[in-house]
Amino acid sequence: MGKLDGKVALVTGSGRGIGRAIVEKLASEGARIVVNDLDADPAHETVEVLKKMGAEAVACVGNVTSPDFAERFVGTAMNTFKGIDILVNNAGYTWDDVIQKMTDEQWYAILDCHMTAPFRILRAAYPHIKALHAADVADGREVYRKIVNISSTSALNGNAGQMNYSSAKAGVIGMTRALAREWGRFNVNVNAVAFGLIHTRMTAADAKAGATVRIENREIRVGLNPEMLKTHAQRNPLGRGGTPEEAAGGVYLFCSPESNYITGQTIAVAGNLQ
Ligand SMILES: NC(=O)c1ccc[n+]([C@@H]2O[C@H](COP(=O)([O-])OP(=O)(O)OC[C@H]3O[C@@H](n4cnc5c(N)ncnc54)[C@H](O)[C@@H]3O)[C@@H](O)[C@H]2O)c1
Repeated sequence: MGKLDGKVALVTGSGRGIGRAIVEKLASEGARIVVNDLDADPAHETVEVLKKMGAEAVACVGNVTSPDFAERFVGTAMNTFKGIDILVNNAGYTWDDVIQKMTDEQWYAILDCHMTAPFRILRAAYPHIKALHAADVADGREVYRKIVNISSTSALNGNAGQMNYSSAKAGVIGMTRALAREWGRFNVNVNAVAFGLIHTRMTAADAKAGATVRIENREIRVGLNPEMLKTHAQRNPLGRGGTPEEAAGGVYLFCSPESNYITGQTIAVAGNLQ
């Protein structure tokens, strides 16, 4: 028996990194999964891995910023599994520059991905969440549904070179608090998890070596300066960055029944004291 047996979980950006670790954790507890990624190959590969684990899974490939994405994503969950129990807004990337070099294109791309896309996905989920809750009440069932929005310590503390990202990830915290107030009446817990340094492709690459990732038609610089990574580890009480599995563990706390009376909160999964 898993703690999430039969639950339907939707996780954006789950083809790689933390999102991938989140779906593996949720599936290991019995959830049925809607995988999303911008890139088709990692999305389909993740679905295959989940199926090999014995889970039910389906892919909804696409960019979370596409205008039709939100309806397609929640539609995939409703058509395939007839429900939405857990929704994690995880898809994202960074596109850094100091303010004097940051273009409008950079600013809006990051706000679109980290703030507007989750807003649209949650808005598209609304009629289903409302109807599913009404059916639970009619049948005398008490069911809690879970929204987890991914933020960052760059929002909590600020980070030089990330005015777009720090702002968007701070917006996610505001969105979390507002929606917790709107959806409490449907027994939906809405919380946020702010990651510190987690070792994924977003942070692992050597920025000085010019590493990039492709986000649709743009080649975006990623990675961190190796000296910064060393300093970060030295300053962190746990002496290191986190793994995707540890990051997923923080998200899982907010997906489990143990968090049924926690809503509107943000926890830092960062190994640090702030
Ligand atoms: N790694 C860290 O240190 C760290 C720290 C704080 C917050 N975060 C946040 O955690 C989340 C996951 O990051 P990660 O480190 O696992 O990155 P990652 O690059 O390893 O994985 C992110 C996945 O999301 C997908 N993706 C990116 N933009 C997308 C879009 N517009 N539509 C659909 N899919 C998209 C990518 O293709 C990729 O497979 C992001 O929101 C990120 O901002 C990460």
